[in-house]
Amino acid sequence: MTTPQTPPKPPADLPASTLTIARPDDWHLHVRDGAAMAAVLPYTARQFSRAIIMPNLRPPVTSAAQAMAYRDRIVAAVPAGVDFTPLMTLYLTDKLAPDEIQRAAAAGVVAAKLYPAGATTNSDAGVTDVRNIYPALEAMQRAGLKLLVHGEVTDPAVDIFDREAVFIERVMQPLRADFPELKVVFEHITTREAAQYVASAGAHTAATITAHHLLYNRNALFIGGMRPHYYCLPVLKRELHRQALLAAVASGSDRFFLGTDSAPHAAQLKEASVCGAGCFTALSALELYAEAFEAAGALDKFEAFASHHGADFYGLPRNSGTVTLDKQPYTLPDSVAMGEAPLKPLRGGETLAWRQRAAADLASAPGAQAGRKPSIDR
Ligand code: NCD
Ligand code: ZN
Repeated sequence: MTTPQTPPKPPADLPASTLTIARPDDWHLHVRDGAAMAAVLPYTARQFSRAIIMPNLRPPVTSAAQAMAYRDRIVAAVPAGVDFTPLMTLYLTDKLAPDEIQRAAAAGVVAAKLYPAGATTNSDAGVTDVRNIYPALEAMQRAGLKLLVHGEVTDPAVDIFDREAVFIERVMQPLRADFPELKVVFEHITTREAAQYVASAGAHTAATITAHHLLYNRNALFIGGMRPHYYCLPVLKRELHRQALLAAVASGSDRFFLGTDSAPHAAQLKEASVCGAGCFTALSALELYAEAFEAAGALDKFEAFASHHGADFYGLPRNSGTVTLDKQPYTLPDSVAMGEAPLKPLRGGETLAWRQRAAADLASAPGAQAGRKPSIDR
């Protein structure tokens, strides 16, 4: 007679083979509008429960009414049966009236974005001097709207690789001192200076970090020739900065959370003599992050980064339900359609280590039951 035996537990240093986490949110996303939006939105809705929708359309989203109309167009493009909520933002300009902030807050807009004029894609209507938006910032502080910051100076005398660090001194520190109660998200940080600043700036300052800034340093822009699909703003930095970002997420600090900054541009605009800034990562965002966290030995910090810290900072409930990633190599398509135009995902044509399990298979996933704990199976 044989006695039932529990199989021996594999040693903890074996590579993880599945990863189940609470449904995550993307706290920084560009989906554009019209046919482009209808094409890219389903990729995000498949992975994330909510996303902060960036307002840098042409023309930009500068009123509560525009934000609500944009929200309705996005909601109409969410595939049937998929649970996804866009969180709307306003684009700050030198002239945005404090009244508009109040109307936006009342309509459910959660944040407003500071683009220094000329800093990045579709930022020409942005702010020329942060003092011009002080009345709007006062209204935001009162209404509880978050301030989202593209943290780069535009001074042509400042080297492009230093623009984030200089922004901290010239803009961020004075702004923090003048609006201590305003909740500020330093978006897509890329430097050691920004990681250190955010870690020490107090509970009202947080940062998003993209997958590509965790995975790549600036060498990626030049391997074997210029690589336009790796060009985004803020531009990739030296390895020491990438290491500082990895250390920030591996610390488990709740000041850091997921924001893909997935920014689709038609392939012909990327592969042109002047290449637009932006990396399209929505097709495989969670897979790219999982790869970065695994390489940093920080998979145990991934769920909180992807699914808890952002919601907590924004004062929104954490999501129910889960997503599961399997260690299952698969090759990303080289190109997908964006309306009429081909769109090339970052790492297109290459093999990724992780793959999100399709929603239909999730009911049987180990973490799908209520009351689950995050699980990393080895
Ligand atoms: C973004 C875009 O394309 O809208 N581009 C980018 O390189 N990240 C704008 C932005 O977030 O800076
Ligand atoms: Zn962005």
